[in-house]
Amino acid sequence: MKTISIICQKGGVGKTTTVVNLANIFSKNGYKTLIIDLDPQGNVSTYLNFDKNNKEFTNSVDLLEGVTKLTLAELNPKLSIIPSNKEIARYNEGKIIGGSRIRKIKKQGLFHGFDFIFIDTPPTMSSLVQEGIAASDYYLIPTKPEFLAIEGVAQAMNFAKTTLKNIPNTNTIFLGVLLNQVEVKRSSYKEFVDELEYLLGDRLLETKISHLTEIADSPFYGKTVIDFNNDSKAKIEFTKLAEEIIERVGKNEKIT
Ligand SMILES: Nc1ncnc2c1ncn2[C@@H]1O[C@H](COP(=O)(O)OP(=O)(O)OP(=O)(O)O)[C@@H](O)[C@H]1O
Ligand SMILES: [Mg+2]
Repeated sequence: MKTISIICQKGGVGKTTTVVNLANIFSKNGYKTLIIDLDPQGNVSTYLNFDKNNKEFTNSVDLLEGVTKLTLAELNPKLSIIPSNKEIARYNEGKIIGGSRIRKIKKQGLFHGFDFIFIDTPPTMSSLVQEGIAASDYYLIPTKPEFLAIEGVAQAMNFAKTTLKNIPNTNTIFLGVLLNQVEVKRSSYKEFVDELEYLLGDRLLETKISHLTEIADSPFYGKTVIDFNNDSKAKIEFTKLAEEIIERVGKNEKIT
């Protein structure tokens, strides 16, 4: 089982979009996949047309309160969701608390049987994000190709590092930075990518996701990119991203 948190304190960079689309692609490729939403906004549920206030199923507040049994909502036989809602916001207020409640649940084997878990996190530097990082094998930072975003990426990386230093026995690996909402034709784009490549080396993911209206509009139609035609640019790029992630996770497996 591999757990990947998508983090960035900057809002609107594509965390939820990445989680939802990757999770769908992974599940359609046969991997048993779970999405955990740790964001009080509950956007994962909205994206997937799921009722985040449904009390029948385990939600992320239950996780933080230490459930001993999960009742998982299934979106398809290979894809489950642990939704979030605004009740979880109280855990977003405190900073560094050394969050590791979800990690504990994981260690108890409650997520047994899943191949991949994707964790969506809020645009904050808070204990909710720390919960995600501590419970994960990897964290991925999406960013927009904008000048100020470089600072945002550096801040997210530092936050993750500090978090991992403060929580004993964590070994979460930096999977990389994903450039999202790319507009290659923008004049500053090449300079921006060069700068990021210089700073990050191979931690900048090779796959970039373009700014595409089909991605922005997909939640409205209740779709993820896997539901698009095979020649859709969004589907091609996200499929490539899924392949790159599998490759990177595989490589790290050999190293460690
Ligand atoms: N590649 C893309 N092309 C076009 N629109 C995109 C793309 N990626 C994300 N968006 C749109 O940008 C907005 C922000 O994306 P998203 O909600 O995934 O970001 P986020 O980082 O999760 O935001 P928050 O920090 O508020 O949780 C959404 O309206 C989404 O549809
Ligand atoms: Mg989000």
